[in-house]
Amino acid sequence: MKRDELQKLLKDMSLEEKIGQLVQIPGFMIEKGAVLTGPAMEMGFTEEDLFNAGATLSVFGFDRIKEIQDDFMAHQPHHIPLLFMGDIINGYRSVFPIPLAQGCTFDPALAGQLAAMSAKESSASGLHVTFSPMVDLVRDARWGRVMESTGEDTYLNSCFAKAVIEGYQGKDVADADSVAACVKHFAAYGAPEGGRDYNTVELSERTLLDDYLPSYHAAVDAGTEMVMTSFNTINRIPASGNAFYMKDVLRKQWGFNGVLISDWAAINELITNGICREKEEAATLAINAGVDMDMCTPVYASSLKKLVEDGTVSEDLIDESCMRILELKNRLGLFEDPYHHADNRNADEVILCREHRELCLKAAEESIVLLKNRKEILPLAKEGLEIAFIGPYADNKRLHGVWSMLAEEEDTVTVRQGIEEIAQNNTVTFAKGCRLLDKKYPLYGFRGRVEEEDVDDEELLLDAMTKAKRADVVVMLLGEHPCHSGEAGSRADIRIPKPQRRLLKAIAKVNSNIVTVLFHGRPLDIRGVDRRSKAVMAAWFPGIEGGRAVARLLYGETAPSGHLAMSFPYCVGQVPVHYDSFTTGRQYTGNDENRFQSKYLDIPNKPLYPFGHGLTYTTFDYTDVELSGDTVTPTTDITLNAKIKNIGNRAGTETVQLYIRDLYGSVVRPVRKLKGFKRITLNPGEEGTVSFVINREMLRFTRADMTFDAEPGDFYAYVGTNSATERHLKFTLTE
Ligand code: NOJ
Repeated sequence: MKRDELQKLLKDMSLEEKIGQLVQIPGFMIEKGAVLTGPAMEMGFTEEDLFNAGATLSVFGFDRIKEIQDDFMAHQPHHIPLLFMGDIINGYRSVFPIPLAQGCTFDPALAGQLAAMSAKESSASGLHVTFSPMVDLVRDARWGRVMESTGEDTYLNSCFAKAVIEGYQGKDVADADSVAACVKHFAAYGAPEGGRDYNTVELSERTLLDDYLPSYHAAVDAGTEMVMTSFNTINRIPASGNAFYMKDVLRKQWGFNGVLISDWAAINELITNGICREKEEAATLAINAGVDMDMCTPVYASSLKKLVEDGTVSEDLIDESCMRILELKNRLGLFEDPYHHADNRNADEVILCREHRELCLKAAEESIVLLKNRKEILPLAKEGLEIAFIGPYADNKRLHGVWSMLAEEEDTVTVRQGIEEIAQNNTVTFAKGCRLLDKKYPLYGFRGRVEEEDVDDEELLLDAMTKAKRADVVVMLLGEHPCHSGEAGSRADIRIPKPQRRLLKAIAKVNSNIVTVLFHGRPLDIRGVDRRSKAVMAAWFPGIEGGRAVARLLYGETAPSGHLAMSFPYCVGQVPVHYDSFTTGRQYTGNDENRFQSKYLDIPNKPLYPFGHGLTYTTFDYTDVELSGDTVTPTTDITLNAKIKNIGNRAGTETVQLYIRDLYGSVVRPVRKLKGFKRITLNPGEEGTVSFVINREMLRFTRADMTFDAEPGDFYAYVGTNSATERHLKFTLTE
């Protein structure tokens, strides 16, 4: 539709119709065609609201979507198509590693390919919008939603935000293989106090500006069609009613012209948050603050008409929001084709096709992080060993992460299946060893209580012990349940569940050659695991090809290359922990006899494994690390070059990381900040050069006077394999 046609359409629409476009109805309320069911009525939606609605979510499968779309369009006075949205977080049916694992690839281009694959399967199945990516910066492993972010670093998150949005949206959202992206949760949802979901966020303005906001900004610059608000407060004002951040920052400063949707019921929650007394006040605050669409509550639907009629809310505001929603529908091409090409396609041809499975495998292999490998116990020899694979993840199909609603167990390759494909000349045995969950702590997931098969604990343990005793090497497959992370998945104890800790302890008594592979949605407290294992792999929730990826990495069919996108804390008492902390007046010197330093009495300051850490099956030597000059000016950049040589016997990939430290500033500066990273793959004996440009722009920050710019002075450029590298060179920035 041309712009003047859209404008004409808007003019022709009644006020009720325009308000209707601002409403999203949950999919579970629509049954058998577009009939409103019980819960919808209970929530206060009326039949009229339903047929005026602008969008729905979580309706899956093209036949169902088509049935609803046809019914809606037949009833909607101007036959305006409905937007179908859904939470496709890490793949539609071809499920790939969770976002935090993707962050560990340090390979945004790969994440872009994964997003494109996800878009292809989603759009072929009729979806128009995915509620992804989540780009919230995360520093507290207790928060369950760290699994949905690419981690603790501002720059890394921004690179992934851009790549993923471009992957989803392709060249044009109207194309058959594209979906519109919705970046979330604006803003700073990743910093709830104490890691407890939905909790208050308290951040300094500078931390917000320099650390938390850039990834959303990158998403806007990459052209995200939608933005979702967050549940938390910013500066004590709930994000969904925060005019400053939504209007001044997002729209005016960043130029965002797309649709801003509230998170689920977040407008209604302005009431429980103690900001508004009732629905009309909440609707007034949210629409004035810039929220275009109300996700899944009838606050807009039931209040806005009266508010416009009595002059509280201007009709122009309704028109603006409605127009943005119509424009999105138009950019998706829905006025010409309300099914977004899905009726001409056979989704089964794309879903789980060979290329998609291959990409899932590549992503799983690249995202798994080898944390430790003592005495090079890994890779496992393919012949002559007896290996016991023990633990609740030894033969488990739940490798998807909590958001993968369309994942089918039959799609997934378990570790056992992966091992059996490779280890034909090994004697391999498998044992579950114990239940995954602690019976004492019932776990409630998105769909009610998580039930575990009833097992005989003694029998399981005995079987595992017998197999472990005989084996040359024991591989333990342990971890969290997928429902331990994700939304409302906060934990104060971030160890693996007790039955598994007990199992590991028992096995370690009869066999000391232990390799542990972990499945999890967050960095865990793994001190006990680490102590008892010669090697540890963080496999996250790796998706449908996860079992095959783990097997291939264990046997060295491919080499690990993942690096941590989020630090593994020493223990939970240390969180939030992140590599880019600030210098203090009493920096820890390493001398524990001096009490008056910024340190703990009972644990180290350093995390167990720092951001950026990751091993492989070879070693890299860094030589000839040089700067092309020692002075950066507004018009002169310098280049850092480093020669990297593979000095081991196997091919491997190194992720070379550049960090910069600003030695003195008008405000306290972080001890270092990631400014660049590059992956380089080298054969044994091979050498390559990695270069990074250092310019004035990357040295900017929010200064004492709140302006955003660099300050002349001295800097260190660190280069190495993780955020703890000490290898550095000095340079100066002059005016
Ligand atoms: C609430 C979650 O916070 C958000 O991330 C999600 O997209 C919506 N629910 C819709 O399911």
